Amino acid sequence: MSVAMMLENEAMKYAGEAVKYDKMGDKDKAADSYKKAVEQLTRLIKLYPDYTFNRFYVEKVTTYQERIRLLKSEDGEETGIEKFTSFETKQTGAQESAEEDGEVPSEKPNVTWGEVAGLEDAKIAIKEVIVYPVKRPDLFPLGWSRGLLLFGPPGCGKTLIAAAVANEIEAQFIQIDPANIMSKWLGAAEQNVAKIFGGARKTAKAGKPVIIFIDEVDSILGVHTNEVGGEVRMRNQFLKEMDGLQDKGKNYHLYVVAATNKPWDLDWAFIRRFQKRIMVPLPDYATRLQMFEINSSQLELTIDVDLHILTQLTEGYTGSDIKDICQVVRQEVIRELFESGKAEDSTSKPRPLSMADFKRAINNRKPSVSKEMIKEYDKWFDQFKAL
Ligand SMILES: Nc1ncnc2c1ncn2[C@@H]1O[C@H](COP(=O)(O)OP(=O)(O)OP(=O)(O)O)[C@@H](O)[C@H]1O
Ligand SMILES: [Mg+2]
Repeated sequence: MSVAMMLENEAMKYAGEAVKYDKMGDKDKAADSYKKAVEQLTRLIKLYPDYTFNRFYVEKVTTYQERIRLLKSEDGEETGIEKFTSFETKQTGAQESAEEDGEVPSEKPNVTWGEVAGLEDAKIAIKEVIVYPVKRPDLFPLGWSRGLLLFGPPGCGKTLIAAAVANEIEAQFIQIDPANIMSKWLGAAEQNVAKIFGGARKTAKAGKPVIIFIDEVDSILGVHTNEVGGEVRMRNQFLKEMDGLQDKGKNYHLYVVAATNKPWDLDWAFIRRFQKRIMVPLPDYATRLQMFEINSSQLELTIDVDLHILTQLTEGYTGSDIKDICQVVRQEVIRELFESGKAEDSTSKPRPLSMADFKRAINNRKPSVSKEMIKEYDKWFDQFKAL
């Protein structure tokens, strides 16, 4: 076992003990164990400054230190463990019930298909992978893919389209992010993965389709230099869960959709488990036009505003750049309104946005993605595409 893993295990052990004593009301012993957990974590952080989990461990250290301070403070009655973060309280129970439904937020995002401009390839892929099998499983005697990887430059709609999918089909939508996978229990990231998949399987087996969405998947499941141990365990657990979905005879609807703007940080073991790998590219002319239409639909424009010309001027810009441009233009007229003092009158309105306003905003803003970056995505796509 590596030194890092030893420190991690020790910290976990002390943290578990601390919570137990804390629950029993044994403040001295609890404080003592929290202190030992903090010591182990601090050593770990110092020894492996680049460890992926460090920022969560730093948070833990702060939380435990705060808890120690409370336990030792005078107003004893105010320090009940119920007031401690609820995740910590459940720490000891966590291991026993890995299959239990997680408290992972599964609220549906309220993005509709219509708000996603362009991205026809991605929309088709999603239909093929998720919508059709859900509607007519009988048409797929050979089974169907469970994994869809969306990758491409930042700000072009990966997160947006994944959110819209959840609305396209009546599915439970579970989002996995670093916060819900790592910070619940110290060192228990792989248990959390198992728990999330366990809960999702239960729902899917009961007949309701489930989509597990992992945004920024590179940050959780990418391969990084200076790995310590926890990341590898978590990644392996994840691969195991993905494999479980593919077993013959599993005909419930559990899908994993992942998104990344750093696909090169993923390793092949991971990539190959996503049978569909789709690029979400920079928006083309028609898509940018649609974006300008979507973004300006709520704004008042002067008649000289020609969205086609704006579309021509923004070649190479991302969807998020275009949104920002529209927001900047809007902010400017609002600032004018306030500076003129007219905003005091609650019926006053900002002046309509003109072509000159938009042109100025475009000139003041360079595209956020460079041509070199786009080449890297194309290269990766050529190598790993699976349409
Ligand atoms: N295809 C699109 N249609 C409509 N709006 C878009 C589109 N792409 C991007 N946008 C706008 O840009 C914002 C950012 O997009 P989104 O978060 O989906 O990008 P992303 O591809 O997930 O980027 P990242 O790789 O940085 O996570 C969206 O909230 C939306 O306002
Ligand atoms: Mg995103």
